[in-house]
Amino acid sequence: MKIAVISDVHGNRLALEAVLDDIVRQGVDATFNLGDLVSGPLEPNWTADILMDLDIPTVRGNHERVLVDYPPDKLGPVDRFAQQQMEERHRIWINDLPPTLAMLDDIFLCHGTPTSDDEPWLDSWWQGRTVTTPDEATVAAKAEGFDYPVMLCGHTHVPRAVRLRDGRLIVNPGSVGLQMHHGSPDARYATIELRDGRYYPSFHVVPYDHFAAARQAEANGFPQWREALVTGWVGAEGLF
Ligand SMILES: [Fe+2]
Repeated sequence: MKIAVISDVHGNRLALEAVLDDIVRQGVDATFNLGDLVSGPLEPNWTADILMDLDIPTVRGNHERVLVDYPPDKLGPVDRFAQQQMEERHRIWINDLPPTLAMLDDIFLCHGTPTSDDEPWLDSWWQGRTVTTPDEATVAAKAEGFDYPVMLCGHTHVPRAVRLRDGRLIVNPGSVGLQMHHGSPDARYATIELRDGRYYPSFHVVPYDHFAAARQAEANGFPQWREALVTGWVGAEGLF
């Protein structure tokens, strides 16, 4: 059994389509989505319509929470853009998404950590532009009480797989639509494959027309996203 894992699409329809094409070539049995679906100055509605049509297991990210719960004046400019673009069908769909999901008895889906959509798990990416790897105790503490062989998280946009001492696997597939910190504009996702009772994670790098995505951001009035989409080096500061 092979499962594709996508996360942090952030309204980047071009990147999403490239990743979905690549997933078809992988021949997976299912695809799971870890949230932060539409918040980006690109194509939130088109992205939402594609994801709604896919109808795959999806958890909400921190950006879905604010899009549904916050009034426009409490939102940052990117979330406000997405909220203004969204139509009623998108709001209803996003409002119904759960914060976490357990699939196939042994795979747990969350956006940040099992107990928070806003807390990073495998990286401490908010500290300037430096990606810092948290220590073992910090990572393991956030897994406490969640007895699943595989736990999937997003939020930091940095692809990483960690195996705890007790064998549990934590995988962050990276971001489909917004590369930060690691210096590549290419879209990211992961697959996990069950073979002989073990889950094998793999990371996938998908080139797409990131210059076209950057032009969309500029045309929508968000030039700061251009540098992020073109290089993949920018940190989260100033983007949202
Ligand atoms: Fe995100």
